[in-house]
Amino acid sequence: MALPATFRKLVATKLSQHFKDAVTLQTVPMLKPGPKDILVRNRFVGINASDINKTAGRYSLDDKPPFEIGFESVGEVVDLGSEVKNVKIGQGVCFMHNGAFSEYQVLPAKMASPIPSIQPEYTALLISGMTADISLREVGRIKQGETVLVTAAAGGTGQFAVQFAKQAGCHVIGTCSSDAKAEFLKSLGCDRPINYKSENLADVLKKEYPTGVDVVYECVGGDIFHTCLRSLAPKGRLITIGFISGYKEDAIAAPTIHPKEVLGLLSKSASISGFFLFTYTDQWRASFIRQADLFAKGSLKVGVDLGTNSDKGPFKGVEGIMDAIDYLYSGKNKGKVVVEMNDPLPAAGL
Ligand SMILES: NC(=O)c1ccc[n+]([C@@H]2O[C@H](COP(=O)([O-])OP(=O)(O)OC[C@H]3O[C@@H](n4cnc5c(N)ncnc54)[C@H](OP(=O)(O)O)[C@@H]3O)[C@@H](O)[C@H]2O)c1
Repeated sequence: MALPATFRKLVATKLSQHFKDAVTLQTVPMLKPGPKDILVRNRFVGINASDINKTAGRYSLDDKPPFEIGFESVGEVVDLGSEVKNVKIGQGVCFMHNGAFSEYQVLPAKMASPIPSIQPEYTALLISGMTADISLREVGRIKQGETVLVTAAAGGTGQFAVQFAKQAGCHVIGTCSSDAKAEFLKSLGCDRPINYKSENLADVLKKEYPTGVDVVYECVGGDIFHTCLRSLAPKGRLITIGFISGYKEDAIAAPTIHPKEVLGLLSKSASISGFFLFTYTDQWRASFIRQADLFAKGSLKVGVDLGTNSDKGPFKGVEGIMDAIDYLYSGKNKGKVVVEMNDPLPAAGL
């Protein structure tokens, strides 16, 4: 396959949680895969709230600029090493591997999952879908008949938490910030969408769920975290998935727990547990296969937001990634924010 001589990618050249300040657009020579590697032309890259934690150097002390960024992608295999057996040139694949904010990328072939067609929905089944699937099962231990509260429920990962909790036979409450998102949540099967801009979350929970909620899938932090914590039922489990409201601060602002809240946990035998997808690598493949199967059968809705309704959208190419991150942080996205990469540069006979 004729490949261009060069391609473009975003590189973190400075540590900052302000994405545009941290990154530089670079043009670099085309890559050659090693014997066990594949070269992928990225087609749909996933945007995550934590992309700014990565550029701020909060993931690893080894992240010293310059370093590669972008956690996940759907793309097409365009070259491969001599020992690669699981995929062929032209095959669509999806993967979680650092460096996806790039037109082309080399990764170990074993990291890639073949997919039946190149479409953005598969990007959403990676970090967003797996986080909901694995955490509700392993940490939330959700059971039929329980009440599950999902925050940022209309977002990338929240949309999956709503559906997996519903499929487990739970009653599902979802928070969001607009009526359009509340409608989206209803279409996913959410029993009680709460637009916290027009209804007071604490009041609704107190009035409509006086005995509390069994499991919380908590993504937001700040006041919402405290409201959720205080709304736990006896033996309730709050899973702290993230705290997006604190990521833009210079020092990441995690919720602080008041002694009275600890007493509240003790008296209810309730708990707070953390969940981080990268500590569950052993479950990734099974989770992806389970979700892809549900998606293929039409039993899992996958909301993808390519930015069509945003002022600067639809987001296209490596440049579009910066606007897509601003869009996610504007809180307007419905479903998973995904950027469609540009067509490759004209072939230069490599
Ligand atoms: N632990 C893990 O392994 C893991 C994996 C994936 C994601 N996460 C976490 O899950 C959360 C959601 O991430 P995502 O990538 O799926 O994003 P997302 O939900 O697609 O987008 C973020 C959403 O958060 C809500 N939000 C509430 N307060 C906000 C604020 N102050 N600023 C911006 N948005 C706010 C907005 O929805 P509303 O306006 O409707 O509330 C917004 O649409 C993040 O905390 C992220 O770190 C954790």
